[in-house]
Amino acid sequence: MKNRKGILLAGGSGSRLHPVTKIVSKQILPLYDKPMIYYSISILMMAGIREILIISTPRDINFFENLFGDGSSFGITLNYAIQEEPKGIAQALIIAEKFVGSSSMALMLGDNFFYGNNLEEILISSSKKNISTIFAYEVKDPTRYGIISCNKNGVPNKISEKPKKPESNFAVTGLYFFENQAIKVAKSLNPSNRGELEITDVNKYFLKKKKLNVQYLSRGFAWLDTGTFESFFEASQLIRTIENRQGIKIGCLEEISLNKGWISKSKIKLIIKSLGKSTYVDYLKKIVSK
Ligand code: TTP
Repeated sequence: MKNRKGILLAGGSGSRLHPVTKIVSKQILPLYDKPMIYYSISILMMAGIREILIISTPRDINFFENLFGDGSSFGITLNYAIQEEPKGIAQALIIAEKFVGSSSMALMLGDNFFYGNNLEEILISSSKKNISTIFAYEVKDPTRYGIISCNKNGVPNKISEKPKKPESNFAVTGLYFFENQAIKVAKSLNPSNRGELEITDVNKYFLKKKKLNVQYLSRGFAWLDTGTFESFFEASQLIRTIENRQGIKIGCLEEISLNKGWISKSKIKLIIKSLGKSTYVDYLKKIVSK
């Protein structure tokens, strides 16, 4: 089986964070001590994915290229592509067609934050499946999300976008593991009423074909879409609390890569020399001294 490739969608208009995002992508902004995009890259890396395409706006793509380069500092390969206008999440699959080739893929949204016990194991086992997987998370206000519901035997049978009368409280999160066919499906879609190619329509296709696995994230997990000031602040607070309490870092890309055996400690030592004096650097020093 070919290696799964990663697509990181980090464009959008970020209108819910205006005026801040009038001049810069939200995915560059710091969630506590790292740019937001670090957390979503870390999810793909934890899943074992080493080839990633970052898609962003013509305005912002250079920020990401300047930040990460070719990805070799993290033992991964990064490619970059532009989405001219935010015409929907499913458009990322079309933009990534050449990059993906005949592989399967994982699509991760740049503003989604996941944290919880056994996350890495869940990601790896979902990535190994040869049907598509979406990740569902129980939320208080299901009218704000794409919602997945089940029949009376517990089999997922319906996805509804922002339903007025939700049939469940399980939101579809911004991480999707797709088989290669998803690209063809995306290409066959018509834009929705809001003029976007909807990822929900891709998920609905696989659900109808009974080729969609739903991985429920249990109550111990945190999932936040960090696209509003409230959730942005909540995520920063959560990261700060866990990091300060446990002395670990969430989303430290060098650490994930070292644990995967993709980079060496001597490589991290070189990275340390090129960085400043932040607590992130102190943490890297701690890792290499272990
Ligand atoms: P959204 O939060 O739905 O949209 P947005 O980022 O433009 O923000 P707002 O609603 O405040 O205007 O997007 C979810 C993620 O997907 C986010 O990381 C941006 C990304 N995205 C794109 O890159 N291109 C797109 O066409 C869309 C719809 C989203």
